[in-house]
Parts: sequence; C-alpha cells; structure tokens
Amino acid sequence: MVKWLKDAVFYEIYPQSFCDSNGDGIGDIPGMTEKLDYIHDLGCNAIWLNPVYDSPFRDAGYDVRDYCKVAERYGTNEDLYHFFAEAHARKMHVLMDLVPGHTSDEHAWFQQSKKDDVNAYAKRYVWTSDAFEGIADHPYVSGNAPRSGVYMLNFFISQPALNYGWGLRTAPWQSAADSPEAVSTREAMKDIMRFWLDHGCDGFRCDMADSLVKNDDEQKHATAAVWQNIRQMLDSEYPHAAIVSEWSNPTSAINLAGFHMDFYLDHHHNGYNTLLRDYECNEADNSFFRREGHGDINRFLMDYLPKYNAIKEHGYISMFTCNHDTPRASRTLSAEELKLAYAFLFTMPGVPFLYYGDEIGMKYLDLASVEGGYHRTGSRTPMQWNHQKNYGFSSAEMDQVYIAQDSDANVPTLADQSHDPASLFNVTKQIIALRHANEDLQADALFDVIDADHQVFVYRRGNMICAVNASNHEANVKDPALQGKKIIYTIHEAEVQEDELKLGSGSFAVLK
Ligand code: NOJ
Repeated sequence: MVKWLKDAVFYEIYPQSFCDSNGDGIGDIPGMTEKLDYIHDLGCNAIWLNPVYDSPFRDAGYDVRDYCKVAERYGTNEDLYHFFAEAHARKMHVLMDLVPGHTSDEHAWFQQSKKDDVNAYAKRYVWTSDAFEGIADHPYVSGNAPRSGVYMLNFFISQPALNYGWGLRTAPWQSAADSPEAVSTREAMKDIMRFWLDHGCDGFRCDMADSLVKNDDEQKHATAAVWQNIRQMLDSEYPHAAIVSEWSNPTSAINLAGFHMDFYLDHHHNGYNTLLRDYECNEADNSFFRREGHGDINRFLMDYLPKYNAIKEHGYISMFTCNHDTPRASRTLSAEELKLAYAFLFTMPGVPFLYYGDEIGMKYLDLASVEGGYHRTGSRTPMQWNHQKNYGFSSAEMDQVYIAQDSDANVPTLADQSHDPASLFNVTKQIIALRHANEDLQADALFDVIDADHQVFVYRRGNMICAVNASNHEANVKDPALQGKKIIYTIHEAEVQEDELKLGSGSFAVLK
C-alpha cells in the first residue's frame, strides 16, 4: 500500500476553470500554482488534475494529441514541473489524468495508423481488415481513412480506440491480448507514465480503466492483467506512485487489477447514487441527504458493504463530492444538506475526493455544451473566488471567458464564505482538519455499522463514532458502544448521555 494515501484528501482541479493567470479567459498552470496555498489551507493534501495535455479539446482534453506535451493554453511542461515541485514543497501529491484507452484522431500515432502503407503504428489502434467490414456491438468509423478498414471508437468520434487486444476473438483482425501489438501499446503507455513520474508527478487517475481489452469477460481478467503488469512496474520503479481507477467495481479494480483506489462512480441505482442524486432514478428523490425525502442509508449499505469488505485489505474505495462528469450535488441539496453529506464522505473509510468549487456549493448551471461537455458543462464553470471581475477567475473581458459563469445574484464565492464561520466552506475545512487530526477517521481505520435506520446512520471508525441524522426530525440512538464517549464535533445539535445519543434534525456528530 502506498503510505501517503492513508491520510490523503484529494482536490480535483478542472484546469480550464480554476484560475486564469494571464487573462486569456481560460485557466492555466501558473494560476493553479498560485492557488496551491489555498488548497493546502483547505486541508486537501493531494490533487487530481484533469488532462492538461496537448489536445484539440473535442472532449475537454480527454482527446490527447501529445501525451508528453502540456497544451499551450495551460502553459509549458516547465510550468507543470514547477507546479509539482511547489506541491511537494507543501507535502502535497499530484495525480495526473492518464487516458490509456484512446487518443485524439489528431495524435501522431493515429495519423500513421490510418495510412494505406503498413507502418509501425498500423496495429496501435483497432482496425478491421476491410473498409466494408464493421465491428459488431462497438462504435466505429468507416470511410474516413486512406487505409482500407474501419476503426473502432472508444468514446466520441474523435477518439479512436487503442489496441490492447481482445478477450473473446471472433475475427482474424482482432489481436490477442498478449499479441506483440497489444503488448507494445501497453509498453508505450508505461513509458508515458515514466515520463511524467520522472518529472515529478505522483501517479495517475486512469480514465475508463475497465475497458482496455475488448470483449473481455465479466470480471475483466484480460484488462486486469494489463494493469497488473503496470502495477508491477510502479512497485519496482516508483513505489510511492498511486493509481486510482475509473472502474467502479473495486473487486476487479483493486483485487484483480491492482489499483490502489477505485472510484465509486455515480451510476444509476448503485449505493453512491442513492446518497446525493437519487432524482436521477426516482422522481420522488429519496436521496439520503435530502432532508424532506424518504432516504434510507441501507440502500447505500447494501451495495457498499460487500464491496468494502471484499477490498479493505488491499485498497481503497474513493467517494467524491462530485466530478467533472456528474451534476454538482448542489443541484438539489441545500448548503445545510451538503454539510452533512461532506461530513459523511470525509469520515468514511477509503480516500475521499473534493471537486473544485464544491467547498462553496457552486451551482450546477444549465448551459450549452462547451468542449464536448454536453450536460456535463453545467458542472465545469469557473471557480468563484470573489466578487471581482469574472468572480476573480480571469481578468479577461466577460465575453472572452471560455465558458459562462453563474449570474445569480446570490452566487456563492469563497470571499464571502471564508468570513462566515458557519459557511459550507468553513465546515468543510473543519471536517477535513478533523480527519487529519484523528487516524481513526482516515483511510484504513476500522469501519462498521452501529445503527442504520432510514436517515439516521451511526458508524464506528476505529475507537471513534460518527453519527448523522439527515432527516427533518429528532432522533435518539441507544447503543452500548456510546457509553463513555464524548462529543468532539457537531454540526447542529447533538447530545450524548450514557448510552444514548440525541441527534437534532439535520445534525452530525463525532464522538471519541
Ligand atoms: C471519462 C472522463 O471522466 C470523461 O470526462 C471523458 O469524456 C471520457 N472518460 C472519455 O475519455
């Protein structure tokens, strides 16, 4: 296990929207570096940085044109190396976003691969052997290359799939997962990882990690074997580097593939989805943290507990407040409800992630698509630092800012919230500080359930107890585990006497 993960609290930076240092209307790396002290003071000691590579930005940078070059709009490679160094000077770690499954169709590999002559990159991508032969059950593009063959897509039309081979093979053009071409794609990806690790990054968030080998079996054994090979390289060459997967199946991602952490993604009807965004599946919206709803923590636990128990000896489940693909939780939850949600997320086992702007409850906006964001665009608006021009994000003219900002009169800003001790920002900060101060609240301290009853959840972390009452009425919990414990932190009213805990409506308590 990578030791620094134990007490890591991540902050996700979406670079185009964080801080624009040169007034061109888009965020950049020097801007991020200026804000490192802010992230550090908030208590986040690790960063997940969304893609900053050279790209035509048809999918916000997840369409990489050059894996080893920083996009000009963000600065230079030297700016990024300096960012790593400044993070390290503050004892912070930085994960880059590795996009191993596809490139941009403007990547030099693909430009070679689509040529009619056979060259070293001919098999770097998934191609059929004839321009009129499609690919069953997978998206593909035909008639768009000098080469006779169709190529497979991994996501948008601009993102051709890299070739890691196939599990079940049904056509001669499908490479085996251990073929020289599949191995050479994997080795190329390892070299890209080495390049950035040698320049100071501390690991990677791995995009669409579960889908490298096509037609893999249900548990994704062949894809897991690719990652195991990568993990061995990391263990021997970069033992302090960490990898987190976009997989959302920790048994495969952690136990089979060897990831240190796996994201619990916002997937319909899974446990995480029932906490904050139940409205995506049920009109009634019975999200656990929605005070007026009829939430039930058992919907979360039924899905979470078997996953947690299966992986707890080997790695961490990562829960986030939101990410760049997910509607911000503030879409439906008030600041008071968010306080409880964050208190829960930052006191659970595993390694938590805070999405930029969630610390002040930035809103989800209804916006036209920017850079392939579509409905995700609403969660990607610029950070609202203060009430200066463009909320302190950029000195550019408003119409030069690459994406619209919140125009609501009550727009949340960091400047307003930092002066208010009861603000979402300050409560978030307090909870993160509490986690750092108590090993019992960190990634691998013991976790078990004391009481789980609809919107009341009481759980043990090491020798401590956390309790949340997300409902609109008072609750009493009696349990021998409460005997002798004192409350050390609360949000709203909570009181303990002997073995009985009284929780006011919408409250959270930590007992020691
Ligand atoms: C997942 C990323 O989080 C998302 O933003 C991107 O569009 C797709 N993968 C494709 O890379």
